[in-house]
Amino acid sequence: MELPFAESWKIKMIEPIRKSTLAEREEWLKKAYYNVFQLKAEEVYIDLLTDSGTGSMSQGQWAALMLGDESYAGATSFYKFEAEVQKITGFKYVIPTHQGRAAENVLFSYLVKPGNVIPGNAHFDTTKGHIESRKAKAIDVTIDEAKDTQLEIPFKGNVSIEKLEKVLSENKGNVPFMVLTVTNNTVGGQPVSMQNIRETSAVCKMYGVPIVMDSARFAENAYFIKTREKGYENKTIKEIALEMFSYVDGMTMSAKKDAIVNMGGFIATNDKDWYEGAKMFCIPFEGYITYGGLNGRDLNALAVGLEENTEFDMLDTRIRQVKHLADKLDEYGIPYQRPAGGHAIFVDADKVLINVPKEEFPAQTLTCELYLEAGVRACEIGYILADRDPVTRQNRFGGLDLLRMAIPRRVYTDNHIDVIAAALKNVYDRRDSITRGVAIEWEAPIMRHFTVKLKRL
Ligand code: F0G
Repeated sequence: MELPFAESWKIKMIEPIRKSTLAEREEWLKKAYYNVFQLKAEEVYIDLLTDSGTGSMSQGQWAALMLGDESYAGATSFYKFEAEVQKITGFKYVIPTHQGRAAENVLFSYLVKPGNVIPGNAHFDTTKGHIESRKAKAIDVTIDEAKDTQLEIPFKGNVSIEKLEKVLSENKGNVPFMVLTVTNNTVGGQPVSMQNIRETSAVCKMYGVPIVMDSARFAENAYFIKTREKGYENKTIKEIALEMFSYVDGMTMSAKKDAIVNMGGFIATNDKDWYEGAKMFCIPFEGYITYGGLNGRDLNALAVGLEENTEFDMLDTRIRQVKHLADKLDEYGIPYQRPAGGHAIFVDADKVLINVPKEEFPAQTLTCELYLEAGVRACEIGYILADRDPVTRQNRFGGLDLLRMAIPRRVYTDNHIDVIAAALKNVYDRRDSITRGVAIEWEAPIMRHFTVKLKRL
């Protein structure tokens, strides 16, 4: 008999989690204004709010922490980190930052001017925030197919070359860079193919526009290239990653995802001008350029995490678990963004809560229902997260309205995944009786989803 697949690691340390009653959850959610970001973590049974900073570090990473050099400047930890980033990315200049959005803040402070236009395949919300808060415009150039959740194509995170070219030709001289996000989080953790990266790079070169790769989940993207794109079957993840980076001019990285650390990020580039420019902003915002807001020990753990999580077995274990959740949803007939993404499953709330009008935020309503059902905390990637149009101040209802269940790396077992799927099935089975959603009572002017106060209708 062929042996079944199993994880490429075993568990050495555990953290207890606790179930709650429906009455407790109703009280807690009300107190949280129907916004799961406002819940206490101890009020959550299984936490799928994010895969960011929530992974389990390996014994290698914990061991590396003990060797951290906490010198203010020139620590050995920095040089280890720098050498690892240089090896994995091929970029010469490396600036540590405390997380991904800090990398954006530092680099964009140098590159973005008011009135600029910055195309990208669905900018992540902090990326969009850092562009819009500088009075520049973020334009989404993801392929239209990404909006059809039931369409099964291998690289649904791709850039539409046609849309990109239109933005570049209409805004000559006003595009400081384009953002290429791998994997494309906003449309469902969907990968970008190497061919698309190559074509994007060629078009940008034609218009003299550099590319910043938002690389939070670059290793997962490389996994999909290896397993789905012809010609890459026999290449290693590290070889594929190097090729991906070879087509772009620089990167911002949230190391809380694919480097599996609880905190950390960086900027890397071969462009000396970008490096010198970013350095100026690193010092006041993040700290001296050999620590950038991080402890020496954090830099050590980050370096080990990057090395380990660019190995096939680690990624295979992870992405199979995400697929396991998708397979369960298939069994129950629950619609999600197909095919399964790298870090999360995105349930198509519009297709589940068909009786809840979009003005009452179906995905946010589904997030509340899933929490009430079983204490599972997912999050809304939909109309609330989309914020208002900066000019018209109208809600942006043009995109997808999704419930995201992000799977932390190396944290939950497949038994937990089965509980999550069963909880969602129970909500799905009573979907016809859910006819009202939520209304906004208070919201912040940008990135409102973190602090929005809602009421149940
Ligand atoms: N870029 C992408 C594609 C992201 O998904 C994130 C964070 C960031 C940048 C910012 O990085 O959190 O380290 O500052 N995404 C998390 C998420 C928060 O839940 O998807 P950060």
